Amino acid sequence: MSSSSSSQNATPSSSLSTPAALWRLKPFVRPVIWRLAGGAASALVAAIIALMIPIVLEQIIRGPVQAGAIDAIVWGALAVFGLGLGEALMVWLRRQFVLNPSTEVEYKMRTELYSRLQTLPVSFHDRWQSGQLLSRMMQDIGLIRRWLAFGLVLLVVNVLTIVIGAVLLFRWHWLLGVIFIVTAIPLWIRGYLFEKRYGALTRRSQDQAGDLATSVEESVHGIRVLKAFGRGKHALSRFSRQAETLRETEMSKAGAIASIWFWLDLMPQIAFGLSLMSGIWLISQGAIELPELFAFFAMATVLRWPIESIGFLFSFMLDARTATDRVFDIFSETNSITDPENPVHIAEPRGLLAFEDAHFRYQDAGASERDLLDGIDLVLRPGETMALVGLTGSGKTTLTTLPTRLYDVTGGRVTLDGVDVRDLPLAELRQHIAMAFEDATLFSATVRENVLLGRADLDVHSDEAERVLREALDVAQAAFVDSLPEGVETVIGEEGLSLSGGQRQRLALARAVAAKPKVLVLDDPLSALDVDTEALVEEALRHVLADTTAMIVAHRPSTVALADRVALLESGRVTAVGTHSELLRTSRHYRHVISSLEAEEAARTGAIPIIADADADAGADADPDELEIETTVREGIREDAATEDMTSEKEVRR
Ligand SMILES: Nc1ncnc2c1ncn2[C@@H]1O[C@H](COP(=O)(O)OP(=O)(O)O)[C@@H](O)[C@H]1O
Ligand SMILES: [Mg+2]
Repeated sequence: MSSSSSSQNATPSSSLSTPAALWRLKPFVRPVIWRLAGGAASALVAAIIALMIPIVLEQIIRGPVQAGAIDAIVWGALAVFGLGLGEALMVWLRRQFVLNPSTEVEYKMRTELYSRLQTLPVSFHDRWQSGQLLSRMMQDIGLIRRWLAFGLVLLVVNVLTIVIGAVLLFRWHWLLGVIFIVTAIPLWIRGYLFEKRYGALTRRSQDQAGDLATSVEESVHGIRVLKAFGRGKHALSRFSRQAETLRETEMSKAGAIASIWFWLDLMPQIAFGLSLMSGIWLISQGAIELPELFAFFAMATVLRWPIESIGFLFSFMLDARTATDRVFDIFSETNSITDPENPVHIAEPRGLLAFEDAHFRYQDAGASERDLLDGIDLVLRPGETMALVGLTGSGKTTLTTLPTRLYDVTGGRVTLDGVDVRDLPLAELRQHIAMAFEDATLFSATVRENVLLGRADLDVHSDEAERVLREALDVAQAAFVDSLPEGVETVIGEEGLSLSGGQRQRLALARAVAAKPKVLVLDDPLSALDVDTEALVEEALRHVLADTTAMIVAHRPSTVALADRVALLESGRVTAVGTHSELLRTSRHYRHVISSLEAEEAARTGAIPIIADADADAGADADPDELEIETTVREGIREDAATEDMTSEKEVRR
């Protein structure tokens, strides 16, 4: 995947002003707003206490120190100590107030984002890299938490502290106030310019971190492929290029920070020098007295950190803003596949699945391209097992995603018992229709939990669950689970025991069966099984699930032959429907597809293909009759795969 999606993901949210962008956090923050306010109040009290210290010092110097009253000095010192203690307590209190609510916000945002990812349609996941989602989920939300806990509270409090401090300084002497303001202003201008640059860099680095996460994820996922093809080096060099780009961005960020800190360090020194000179001048003029100058420097010391921190806090705010944008990019994705407004219910589905002039095209398809599915008309009768056959890339997988609304048709409709699937509540629809995919995904959980995934209505340890589990495992020919170390309680998936491809597929199939759907849609879910097991599974599907309608994308001619009927997908349409033998007889394209499936199968097993040449090779202009005869003869050789249909066909032909 390219890294272009990071720029594509930069959505209009970046046109909002920073406060408006952050304001979107309101619904998450509202429940904890009082605790945050408590944190801010404690911080403010701490700041006021700190500002009182210089005033007390001034009083001590003016009174007891100049009078040489030792007792009073001790009391004064104790008062300063007490104030210091009070400040420390208030800072502690702020942490107490703020820590808990911010983790609560983080938790809420994360779970909400997760549930959002669950409800967004597959087409969203096509466009978004998993690494981007991962980094937004973890890094960005974590950053928002830190900002709410420290950044926001300190920004508010430090600005207030500076204002109060400046007022106090002006009250002592306007010139002291002016010096304070004059040295602070360039800092703030510089800080503002810094933020603009830093904000752009931050967004870039967060996006790049997402791309990097995607690379790691992809290569960990595909480690076998990379190793098998010796592409480890290539992957590494691609990865290190990305890592280098990120490093460069981080270096620019560090450079920006270094230059702002240079200012932050330099300006207070200049201010100190200026204040000292003008203070001495003011004393010589009799405008202020020594205790006031002393207090002024004490005050400047107290204010130094709030002033210095402003730039940092602003950049922190921009980081948080960027993170908020990135999170809301996902929240603001419109979900096109949702529950209908006026849902229709099917209490007792019969399992009549129909495609009525169904059209579909992927979002990224070119405007001039024809629809990938270009008017599909197909009816699956209740209880029927229909095989779906077509060349690779003809759209079989795509077609299987339409009944459960993983994608919505872009024209026409798909109906279940005559009801448009878009009129059913999603949960109900997916209860009636279950799917299994070629790429069998299992979760880190026990076999039992994996198989019963679709049965939220069952307690997984109940007797009923046990019965459903056993039946599903039987249908899927998955008796192997009993020889796993802990039987059906064995933990499998990423964190557990590794299973073979065929074993995984059988469990995925068992999962679909256990859901007890009225309609089963299986996209090549048996590809990793050996021929015999696949035939057993199909038999079981046909007999045990006699009243379940099944649509199976199959790639083995032998299993295609087991289906009640076969639908042929060609150039976006279903061009023929019938039994295997009927289609063999009547459809040239069907023979072509079947022979290419045979060839594929042979390549996989190393067996001698029975129909070696796809009829493309045999010559597109060869006489159809000749081909037909050839096919029939070859079918005759293949006793083992003979089904009733084929046998009777041969008899007829003889
Ligand atoms: N998520 C997707 N986004 C865009 N194009 C896709 C997507 N999935 C498949 N395609 C394209 O649609 C066509 C049909 O794919 P598919 O339905 O998987 O065919 P089949 O299962 O028959 O091999 C292919 O050309 C493929 O490149
Ligand atoms: Mg496919």
